[in-house]
Amino acid sequence: MPNTYKAGWKPDPRLPLPIYRQIEQYVQGRIRSGEWSIGMKLPPQRALAEAFGVNRSTVVTAMEVLMAEGWIEGRGRGGTRVIGIPDERVRRTMNLPDWNAYVEEGAHYPNLPMIQRINRLEFDRDIIRLGTGELSPELLPQEQIRELFASLAKRPVSLGYEQPQGDEELRRLLSRELSRQGIQASPSAILIVSGALQALQLISAGLLERQSAILLEKPSYLYSIHAFQSAGMKLVGLPVDEGGLRLSELERCWRTYRASMLYTIPTFHNPTGTVMSESRRQQLLTLCETIGLPVLEDGAYQELWLDREPPAPLKSRDEHGIVLHVGTMSKAVSPGLRIGWVVGPEPVIERLADIKMQTDYGSSSLSQQAAKMWFASGMHLPHLEHIGKRLRERRDAMLALLDAHWSDIADWSRPEGGFYVWVSLRSPIPVQRLFNQALKHGILLNPGVLYDRSAVRQLRLSYAYASLAELEHALKLLPQLIRSR
Ligand SMILES: Cc1ncc(COP(=O)(O)O)c(C=O)c1O
Repeated sequence: MPNTYKAGWKPDPRLPLPIYRQIEQYVQGRIRSGEWSIGMKLPPQRALAEAFGVNRSTVVTAMEVLMAEGWIEGRGRGGTRVIGIPDERVRRTMNLPDWNAYVEEGAHYPNLPMIQRINRLEFDRDIIRLGTGELSPELLPQEQIRELFASLAKRPVSLGYEQPQGDEELRRLLSRELSRQGIQASPSAILIVSGALQALQLISAGLLERQSAILLEKPSYLYSIHAFQSAGMKLVGLPVDEGGLRLSELERCWRTYRASMLYTIPTFHNPTGTVMSESRRQQLLTLCETIGLPVLEDGAYQELWLDREPPAPLKSRDEHGIVLHVGTMSKAVSPGLRIGWVVGPEPVIERLADIKMQTDYGSSSLSQQAAKMWFASGMHLPHLEHIGKRLRERRDAMLALLDAHWSDIADWSRPEGGFYVWVSLRSPIPVQRLFNQALKHGILLNPGVLYDRSAVRQLRLSYAYASLAELEHALKLLPQLIRSR
């Protein structure tokens, strides 16, 4: 159960029933309906009091009565759990399943608790999202998408399922878009997916053996999700320098672990912002072709350059089909559309499409139609130019604030694109404490440990989401919290 709780219900002081009795009845109702299942841990009393808008002592009174009546039990530090409906008749005739046991046994790993908290807190209106991986709503093409949906509403709409690889016209348009980045991909070598994240899930489920090892940069976005580990794979992190991942280590780790694939974010890396150099890209491909190591290239941020166009994607130089290239509309256009793509050899694309059909029977056809209109409309390039300008201003503002307020406590490098500044504090910080302290001041952080367990001195800051005023407030306040530890 989360530390914060949203009940969507509050006791009503105008009712003749005392508040603690109303809370008792609310809890009993949740248990009777089965929504609060047997064995479920209740939210902390502090969180319940906050959600109900009452004093903690009122919640304590209600809980004591519920405990005495046998609805719930307290297990010291283990918290308070649901026992069930305290009715002998019901208990004797039923042998109810323990959902908690099921929840714990499912094969997919849960998110790290800190990520679970971030995922919830991001929807708190008053919070400053200082590490978020999406564009601020003011940078999203709201007006253009509204117009696009309005014209979509005047056409015959396809409400059925789509082809296994996704809408053919959309794949044709993507093939054209990709050629701008130097990637030659036939529509038959493209699979439309529900965001880049789904591409990673499909690849882990469809191409890789359990127990196999995946090489990747350390830190990496991939450490913050469990797509590969849940499918039984091991992640082997490689050191990086300012030119991208170090190739001597790549070869050594490939030998040691007999790795099955390399996952890399060569352009505007998440979370470090690094760009793999032109020469490193070429050497990497030559090495991988020699040792027979397939490359999974995550190009989520490729188009978001601020100062100069980055080197072309690895896929654009892939003469032998060893690279699977993943892209997405999430970072520049709309994460809510949930549209991404994978480019690769046809047998791989067909295999992934087959698994996708077994998983969700295709990405939303309405989203695919919107994506098709977006790319056909010619809006994409002007939009990229527009957000490039805005992101540049934001990046420069963040760097100026860091220079002014952080220079005695941290180091960072200047990102040339993407969303993130990877800040390294000069001394280690108690991560959880800083996270909680910042939260008390309404600032939501993405600590480095989410992207590399050993990155205890790092923070991923994002200039893409918070407003300039929020950035200024947060970046002035945080050094005070850090210094006062
Ligand atoms: C490097 C990288 N790949 C993939 C994704 C997932 O993107 P999507 O919204 O397309 O699933 C993200 C999102 O943060 C990302 O940073």
